[in-house]
Amino acid sequence: AEVPVITIDGPTASGKGTLAAEVAAALGYALLDSGALYRATGIAALWDGVSPEDEPALAALAAGLDLRFGDGADAGRTWLRGRDITDELRLETSGLMASRVSVWPAVRAALHELQLSFRRAPGLVADGRDMGTVIFPDAPLKVFLTASAAQRAERRYKQLISKGISANIDDLRADLEARDLRDRSRSVSPLKPAEDALELDNSALSIEASVAQVLAWWQQRR
Ligand code: C5P
Repeated sequence: AEVPVITIDGPTASGKGTLAAEVAAALGYALLDSGALYRATGIAALWDGVSPEDEPALAALAAGLDLRFGDGADAGRTWLRGRDITDELRLETSGLMASRVSVWPAVRAALHELQLSFRRAPGLVADGRDMGTVIFPDAPLKVFLTASAAQRAERRYKQLISKGISANIDDLRADLEARDLRDRSRSVSPLKPAEDALELDNSALSIEASVAQVLAWWQQRR
């Protein structure tokens, strides 16, 4: 039988990453943070002075991405070309760069197979924008996670402040709304729920409650 996949798609700062990591840990499944691939491509472009408008050059960077995700004692750490980019990866500038490089079809195509390679027994939880619609259309459980823009801006704000990074909540909200618009309106793999996705609005839910909901759906579906 096919290795099962749970996809979690949704807008910026909806809590996909945290939810995906907790569901994967609870089930003992592998995790694919697909946004990290677009972020790393953006960082590689910055390093190499490649313009976010240069589709062929960006696609070449994506195809040759020398990216490594840590496991065991190194879980949560990421290296690009042997350099630790764990902190850089989470910066707002990296998210914005990712949202610019990810509009290009050739970049998305270059990252397609790499994403499929994360599907390994006993299962995978994949988060992003097009996990349920394009990359894993046969996933038995697809979740579309949403939260109000105000909630998402506030969460992102608290995350940054807790890391000692100063931030302005109105700027954060404007940035994430701009990214949402770009993600929803691009012609290739736009952000939208798969037809068979279950929607979860976590504006008023704790992380624990969201995890419990997804695990309950998984019990019913598998
Ligand atoms: O999820 P994350 O915030 O890390 O994603 C960064 C950007 O990468 C998103 O704003 C989106 O433009 C892009 N992305 C994408 N498709 C995915 C994951 C991320 O286009 N599957």
